[in-house]
Amino acid sequence: MTEAESFTPSCLLVSGGAGFIGSNFIRWVLEEHPDLSVVNLDLLTYAGNLESLEDVDVRHGPAGDGRYYFVHGDIRDFETIARLLRGEASETVPQAQEARTPPPIDAIIHMAAESHVDRSIMGPAIFVDTNVKGTLTLLEACTAELDRRPRPFRFLHVGTDEVYGSLDLDDPAFTETTRLAPNSPYSASKAGADLLVRAYVETFELPAITTRCSNNYGPYQFPEKLIPLMITRALRDEPLPLYGDGLNVRDWLHVEDHAKGLWTVLAHGRVGEIYNIGGECELQNIEIVRSILRLLEKPESLIRYVDDRRGHDRRYAMDITKMRSELSWQPAHTLDKGLAETVEWYLSHQTWWERVLNEAYLATRALYLTEG
Ligand SMILES: NC(=O)c1ccc[n+]([C@@H]2O[C@H](COP(=O)([O-])OP(=O)(O)OC[C@H]3O[C@@H](n4cnc5c(N)ncnc54)[C@H](O)[C@@H]3O)[C@@H](O)[C@H]2O)c1
Repeated sequence: MTEAESFTPSCLLVSGGAGFIGSNFIRWVLEEHPDLSVVNLDLLTYAGNLESLEDVDVRHGPAGDGRYYFVHGDIRDFETIARLLRGEASETVPQAQEARTPPPIDAIIHMAAESHVDRSIMGPAIFVDTNVKGTLTLLEACTAELDRRPRPFRFLHVGTDEVYGSLDLDDPAFTETTRLAPNSPYSASKAGADLLVRAYVETFELPAITTRCSNNYGPYQFPEKLIPLMITRALRDEPLPLYGDGLNVRDWLHVEDHAKGLWTVLAHGRVGEIYNIGGECELQNIEIVRSILRLLEKPESLIRYVDDRRGHDRRYAMDITKMRSELSWQPAHTLDKGLAETVEWYLSHQTWWERVLNEAYLATRALYLTEG
């Protein structure tokens, strides 16, 4: 077992920072760590939205304290990443007279991904391209840069509990040593990325760590995922499509707890290790949907059972003993309070989610939104 060493980055690259977890993480980390600069590298796919970071840009962008940079780019583009790592790439600010150049990067939190299971069933190729090839390109660029200029560095790969496959109701929760058994193209591509990270630690001694997290919820989540999908549809009195018998079990974690967990692992985790992050909060999908309907005072008659997702994993559950005992991290939010706050957020941010639904989503809407 390697010793835990504290690590304090000064300039952190967040890939996929305009997505759900990325935008929440960047907001949180810039508030909590006043000496830190953050570069958000994002391709702005349908899931990336700079509106989710408008307040961050005001407080920490060029007109604020100057610690937040945005670079519009692709994790599959080696040159862009190499230049960012060296501190030679300019940020993307179309209106500015002069674009700023972020300082050299000394840590990466890699979150950029195609992240929706249903989309991976409809079109797996982009999942392999982004999640596997994109991760490989980042790993290659980091290895090359650290060969060129060795320095203290961390690469944190943000993974998912879905790589472990599915549990029966009486199985023990996943631990970090549970064998990988991904069932969807999404989870298979994430498992591929996890294994590449492992290989780069073993073969190239890249100082990398992997986390695997359960289902996140909270503000700014794209309304194709269960909780915001149900909230936004219920608000418009539209039917709520629920897969199969609605009894699939997921573990839920508030996105801010995930953000704190990621920072804890980056700052104090051991290189080469895997850390499970979860909420110890297992619920059936139907229970989540009923809670949302209660909070919105909408009738359960809105629920429509639809044909089950192909290969639908029955249950996920996370054993977070390692995060608790080694890094003293544990979830702080309760689902009751966190879900009520999330519903409130969607109620008060109607413009945000209506625009997201109208613009990006309609072009590529998921199959399960058609009634069946
Ligand atoms: N949401 C969850 O519940 C959850 C749980 C566990 C792990 N994760 C993992 O956390 C990470 C973030 O998840 P999320 O829910 O915030 O995803 P998201 O879909 O909301 O955001 C993904 C972001 O990545 C960007 N992106 C996609 N392809 C890119 C590319 N080629 N180059 C640069 N940027 C690109 C998108 O524009 C978007 O901003 C993912 O790696 C996901 O697998 C998510």
